[in-house]
Amino acid sequence: MKVTIDGIQIEVPKGTTILQAARMIGPEVAPPAMCYYSSLKTSGGYCRTCIVKVTQGSSANPSPIPKPVASCRTEVMDGMVVENNINAELLEARKGVVEFLLINHPLDCPVCDQAGECKLQDLGYGHGSAATRFEFKRREYEAIDIGDKIKLHMNRCILCYRCVKVAEQITDNRVHGVISRGDSSEISTYIENIIDNDFSGNVIDVCPVGALTDKTFRFKQRVWFTKPVDAHRNCDKCSGKTRVWLKGEEVVRVTARKDQWDEVEEFICNSCRYDYKKTSDWVIEGPSPIHRNSVISQNHYQHLNELKLQALKQQNALGFMPLDKKP
Ligand code: SF4
Ligand code: FES
Repeated sequence: MKVTIDGIQIEVPKGTTILQAARMIGPEVAPPAMCYYSSLKTSGGYCRTCIVKVTQGSSANPSPIPKPVASCRTEVMDGMVVENNINAELLEARKGVVEFLLINHPLDCPVCDQAGECKLQDLGYGHGSAATRFEFKRREYEAIDIGDKIKLHMNRCILCYRCVKVAEQITDNRVHGVISRGDSSEISTYIENIIDNDFSGNVIDVCPVGALTDKTFRFKQRVWFTKPVDAHRNCDKCSGKTRVWLKGEEVVRVTARKDQWDEVEEFICNSCRYDYKKTSDWVIEGPSPIHRNSVISQNHYQHLNELKLQALKQQNALGFMPLDKKP
């Protein structure tokens, strides 16, 4: 099936969605996605940030689709022509979607642990308006504990359902979900059941905002002061392949590794996430690739590599034997 997105043509297998096809071309044409998650079945279709304009339905039926469509839920037809970043009207419509997502979201980024890696911050920066037109009171909830390791700040939730899908598909028993409808919808654990499944911590990693945060990391560090490294350990519950976030020698948190779309590569177990907080617990593989235009990736390793290079040059010039090679 041939599809053209922002003037770039690509051939994709039948059943591919517009969003998947756009990601195959690359980030320059891929629409943002706040609820779709490739490893979670039936995700997508909730947030509408991934809308695109279909200017030609297919070669067989070249008429356009009159309204923007959710690209994560719309399959490609042969000969389809799609516009994303090159369509000013569409970008204006996406601005409206972002405005709706931000209607109830508090501006508490300075105290939110997700700041620096929040998809809503990125979305607001890339596609939002500078000011809000919302004059009414925002929804407010008390922050509650979901188990002893996870904090839920419902004020920040954008109801993307990713955590619900994780609980449904990755853990054995889902004990939380979205209750009520419309403006009253909220994530709830029903009678405050705790999530004690081995893989429950993954809800933190899939949450695109700071609604679900790791209590062992809360208020410890701003992420841009930490250095993420890929590391592994032998684990009998998961692959043991994680991202360990260091502040100096201290392990401030452990998360799953994420790909260039900010999606978890392999879900990790709670033991790896919460119980191994010493560098000696891990085999460090090296600096994590941070694929996004993120504050986290700014200057960290460039600076480290330069220092390392300088140190090596000095050692060679002085004939030093590296410390780890000394008898
Ligand atoms: S808590 Fe986070 S992951 Fe769950 S629905 Fe809300 S925003 Fe999505
Ligand atoms: S990513 Fe498509 S609707 Fe949310």
